[in-house]
Amino acid sequence: MEFDLTAHLKFSDNLPQGADIELQKAIDDANSVLFIKGVPHSSMKEAGRIIEWHTHANELCIRIVSGRYTRAHEALLRFRKALGMTIGAKYRIGIRGYDINEFIIKMEAEAPVQVKLPFVKEISYDEKLLTLQLAVSEQDVENKIPDRIVNLVEEKIKQQLYGTKLENWELVWESAQKKVHFRRDPTEELKRRQWIKHGISRGQWIFGPQITKVFSTFERIIEKEILEKLGYSEMIFPKMVPWEVWKRSGHARGVYPEIYYVSSPKSRDPEYWEDVTDYYKVTNEIPLELIRQKIDDPLGGMCYAQCPSFWPFMQGETIASQSLPVKVFDRSGTSHRYESGGIHGIERVDEFHRIEIVWVGNSDQVNKAAQELEKRYAHIFNDILDLEWRIARVTPWFMAQEGLIDTSSDRSVGTVDYEAYLPYRGERTESEWLEFQNVSVNGDKYPHGFNVKTQKGELWSGCSGIGLERWAAAFFAQKGLDIEFWPQKFAKLVAKLPDGIKFL
Ligand code: SER
Ligand code: ZN
Repeated sequence: MEFDLTAHLKFSDNLPQGADIELQKAIDDANSVLFIKGVPHSSMKEAGRIIEWHTHANELCIRIVSGRYTRAHEALLRFRKALGMTIGAKYRIGIRGYDINEFIIKMEAEAPVQVKLPFVKEISYDEKLLTLQLAVSEQDVENKIPDRIVNLVEEKIKQQLYGTKLENWELVWESAQKKVHFRRDPTEELKRRQWIKHGISRGQWIFGPQITKVFSTFERIIEKEILEKLGYSEMIFPKMVPWEVWKRSGHARGVYPEIYYVSSPKSRDPEYWEDVTDYYKVTNEIPLELIRQKIDDPLGGMCYAQCPSFWPFMQGETIASQSLPVKVFDRSGTSHRYESGGIHGIERVDEFHRIEIVWVGNSDQVNKAAQELEKRYAHIFNDILDLEWRIARVTPWFMAQEGLIDTSSDRSVGTVDYEAYLPYRGERTESEWLEFQNVSVNGDKYPHGFNVKTQKGELWSGCSGIGLERWAAAFFAQKGLDIEFWPQKFAKLVAKLPDGIKFL
C-alpha cells in the first residue's frame, strides 16, 4: 500500500528570509524522528517521509509519501503540529490550515473495485494495483476519512476474494434422525385449515386462535424451562429504532436494504394535514405524493435485531459488580425485515415475533450463560418437542447483519444456529434446513459500542433470539398439525386447541 500526498500549508504571514534553513531542519527532523515514532524496526521503509518541498510567499508546499506506517496524511498532521511549535513560535506566525492538492493511494487487489466511492475522484486499475485519487479537505483528514476509505476498499477487496455470500458453517452436533410422518409444506396446510391468513401487508400473517395457542404454549415452555430456571427478568425494549442506535450497534454499516423506514409528520397541526384528509374524503384514495411532502426524512426504522434497543439503557453507565451478570429478555413487540421475494412460508416473513434474551457480564459469565442456555434449548428440543435438529457454528449474526465477512478464527465469540430438518424440502443431506434458533456470544462489541463499563475488568454480552414463527415452522414441518400425533409432553401442555373461526 502506498500513499502519496501533496499539501499546501498556509501561514498567517509571508515566510521571512532565512526560513528555508529552519524548514529544512524541521523536515529532516520529521523524516528522521517524528515520522518514525511507533514504527516497528522492520517496517522503517514504510514510514512517511517528505520527499519534496518548496515555499512561496506565505505557503509551504510539501509532498509526503508512505507505506502502511505513519501514513502520509498522519505524517501531515504530525508535521503541522511540530511546525507550529518551531517555525511558528520562532517567527510568530501561525499555520492557518492546508489544502490537499493531490492525494493518491495505491493498493494491491486481485481485481478492480468498480464502484463510486465517497471522497474518491477517480479509481483506476492496472497490473493488480488499484489507484485512488482522493478529494479531501483538511477537515476530512481530521475526521479520519482517508483511513476509512482504505478500510472500505480493503473490505471490498476481501468481498471479491471470498464472495459476499461466504458464510461460515461448521457442524457442531446433530440429533438422531426422527421418523418422518409429515411431508407437506406446513404453511400450505396451515392456510388450508385456516389457522393463518395473509395479512394485508407484505410478508405478514394473521395468526388464528389455534396456532396462537401453539405460540403461547411455546412461550410458556420458554418461561418455565429457560427464563425462570436461569433467572432472566423481563424488560421492554423500544421497537422504533433511531439511527443513533444503529450507528452504535453497527447496523448502520449494512442494514439499509432490509429495514422498514419510519418517518414522522413535519407537523401535527390538523390544518397542515387538511388537504390530505380532504383529498381522501373526496376520492377515497390516499394522496401519497402529498403525504410524502409532509413527512420528515426517516428517523430510523422498525425493530430489526431486537437487542440493539436495549443498550441505550446501559449507555455511558458503569454496572455495579453485584448486578452482573445482567440477564434480561424482551417480548414486547414485533421485528420487521424487508425480505427478498418468495416470502410464502411462515418461516420467512417481514413481520415476526421473537423473545430476545440478552445477558451481560465478564467473559466467563457470558460464556457460562450461553452454555446454560444451550443446555436448556437442547432439553426443550429433545424432550418436549422431539425435533430432529442440529447445531452449526456460523458467521456471527452481527457480522452478517453489517455485511462483514467472517475470516476470524477467534472461537470464543460467535453465533451458533440451531437448524431443523424440514421433510417437505427433500432429503436430509440435500435439502436446506431451517435456522430456528440462535445463541451468540458477542464479545465486547455492544459494551464498546454503547460505552458501558464495569467496576473492574472487561464487559461482554450475548444474545439469543427465539422466533416463534421459526419454532412453529420447524415443529409443524416435522410433526404436522394434528395434535394426536404430537409428542405427548407437548400435546399435554397445549391441552386443547381452540376451535377457530368457521367461514361459510
Ligand atoms: N439479535 C440477534 C439477531 O438479530 C438475535 O436475535 O439475530
Ligand atoms: Zn440480539
